[in-house]
Amino acid sequence: MEEIDWVARWKRLVKDRSTLASGHADSHYWDRRARSFARSTHARADEFLQVLEPYLGPTKTVIDVGAGTGRHTAPLAERLEWVTAVEPSEGMRSHIPQRDNITIVASTWEDAEVAPADLVICSHVMYGVAEPAPFVEKMQRSARERVLVMMRETDLPHPAAELRRRLVGEAGHRLPRFSDLFMLLVQMGIAPDVVYLRYPIVTRYADMDEAIADCSALFGDGWDERAARDELERLLRRDGDELVFDGGLALSGVAHWRPSRS
Ligand SMILES: C[S@@+](CC[C@H](N)C(=O)[O-])C[C@H]1O[C@@H](n2cnc3c(N)ncnc32)[C@H](O)[C@@H]1O
Repeated sequence: MEEIDWVARWKRLVKDRSTLASGHADSHYWDRRARSFARSTHARADEFLQVLEPYLGPTKTVIDVGAGTGRHTAPLAERLEWVTAVEPSEGMRSHIPQRDNITIVASTWEDAEVAPADLVICSHVMYGVAEPAPFVEKMQRSARERVLVMMRETDLPHPAAELRRRLVGEAGHRLPRFSDLFMLLVQMGIAPDVVYLRYPIVTRYADMDEAIADCSALFGDGWDERAARDELERLLRRDGDELVFDGGLALSGVAHWRPSRS
């Protein structure tokens, strides 16, 4: 039987997906999504920090690759000596708190020039990364003690995916998953420890216009705003002054390992 080239497979997944919608790798998408993302993830019970716990300490430093709105950067800055948050989207960066021990680097990871740190973390960033091997190698080179990468195993729990299923009949090309990452790491000669996390995913919008703008960016071809609006009226429920999509329980994996010095 033929061996699978997991790097080539990953690249194909990202390329196929980008014909549907390139949201995950597009910093303008994240600029627009930032407010809803901050609102949706602010209260999310996320055990990623518990996986990190054994490696934390007051003299430790971390690089947060694709830090987003800083939901890991902010609590880590309370515990560690220094956090370097690398984030290409201005909208996402604007939510990261200003602190003396946080450096914000306005760049993609591929282009970032940062000094090594004890830990490198990368949470829910790699879905749109077109060249995964150099991306991972750079994380290895930049980490003195540990690299930790989190991705979802379950499908995108986003209203745009559910809308597409309802209006087009299929969800379209999928994103890379945690298991694709795991096999890619093994192919690269990395044997990571693995922890699985399960948590509910809820997406929150200020109003219907914000929901429409967000969904249209991830829906792909065949977008019909009127039909989408009607369907979203049924999909979203009101919670106080917000509109909420309940994405159910997500399963994510965290791969973590001591970087090799080759
Ligand atoms: C789903 S958010 C995750 C944010 C944060 N890590 C978290 O878990 O809350 C993905 C973030 O990755 C960023 N991103 C996407 N591609 C990136 C790249 N090549 N280098 C660095 N960041 C990237 C996006 O701008 C976005 O803020």
